[in-house]
Amino acid sequence: MPDKLIDKFGRVHDYLRISVTDRCNLRCVYCMPEDGMEFEREEHILSYEEIAKVVRVLAGMGVTKVRLTGGEPLVRKDLDQLIGQIADIPGIQDISLTTNGIFLAKKAEKLKAAGLYRLNISLDTLRPERFGLITRGGDVAKVLESVEACLRLGFEPIKLNVVLMKGVNDDEIWQFIELTERNPLHVRFIEYMPIGHEGDSWRNKYYPLNNILSQCEEKGWRFREETPAAGNGPARYYRVEGHQGTFGLIHPVSDHFCETCNRLRLTADGNIKPCLFWSDEFNVRKWIGDDEKIKELFLQALDIKPENHEMAKVLAKHEPQHAPTIRRMSQIG
Ligand code: GTP
Ligand code: 5AD
Ligand code: SF4
Repeated sequence: MPDKLIDKFGRVHDYLRISVTDRCNLRCVYCMPEDGMEFEREEHILSYEEIAKVVRVLAGMGVTKVRLTGGEPLVRKDLDQLIGQIADIPGIQDISLTTNGIFLAKKAEKLKAAGLYRLNISLDTLRPERFGLITRGGDVAKVLESVEACLRLGFEPIKLNVVLMKGVNDDEIWQFIELTERNPLHVRFIEYMPIGHEGDSWRNKYYPLNNILSQCEEKGWRFREETPAAGNGPARYYRVEGHQGTFGLIHPVSDHFCETCNRLRLTADGNIKPCLFWSDEFNVRKWIGDDEKIKELFLQALDIKPENHEMAKVLAKHEPQHAPTIRRMSQIG
């Protein structure tokens, strides 16, 4: 059996996203229901040693990049120990973290020393009251403090993830772009995705990104497209003339980027997810230690990876061909 992670559409998979926990200290409106979620039982969550064993197998299959996500990865104790273990695996060249930034300021130095290269921080608004509403209780000052601490520590790139929602934060696009004038930050506007959402609440808030560039032109901003600062992902980046940082667009719904997908996911409870949107999962937990079986499971997952997701169909209220996931982002990562 070939060992490389190439699917039947010729996509090479060299990037693994690992959710280290489904728990979070916040409950962002687009990510968790108001009443919160039932969390996975402790005994189902992979230990750091188990995660590292899986990464070692995948490094042998061509994975070079690992992103740690959650829930909120920093609610898990001593994350630097996991980073250290992954950094020691031959073949792993890039370790990154997606975090809400609340606990980051105090932990950033240790994480960097352990081998963390890159950071993506969620920040949907710069306004304290609004931040409290979107995150259901978070303090934006803590995130801004973390961003400053990480700039001082020299993390590059630092990406800020802004999920845009109609009537909620779509009036802050310009302030976010202005933030890139004096700061080497990469602000990414993200379309709200229907991950684990039922009903119309998502559709009513969905904000398509296809007009942002023409709106920038109308404002008289001169900007040009840039090759991305390090990253593996879906964003297109632009720099306004004279700005230190860039802004990027991630538009999975209005214009999917599945043809360049290079990622596989491992959930906190040990499930391989070949595609963010679909429900298919393969559990590896009980096979950890049996490297051949782990390889086989990843190859099986890859074999059923779809050519693309069907979020646009969901937007148009058409029935997708296949069952979408019922998990939320916080449970997937
Ligand atoms: P880098 O490019 O490596 O910095 O990572 P990233 O942008 O993929 O990671 P991040 O965790 O910051 O994710 C940012 C946004 O990208 C998420 O909010 C999603 O909207 C989108 N995204 C991440 N992974 C996927 C995926 O597999 N499919 C789709 N459609 N969107 C994704
Ligand atoms: N749509 C788009 N992005 C989402 N995120 C969480 N839920 C959604 C959603 N429904 C984002 C978070 C974080 C990243 C990992 O995913 O803001 O930045
Ligand atoms: Fe937590 Fe991130 Fe989900 Fe917000 S988006 S609730 S910070 S996991």
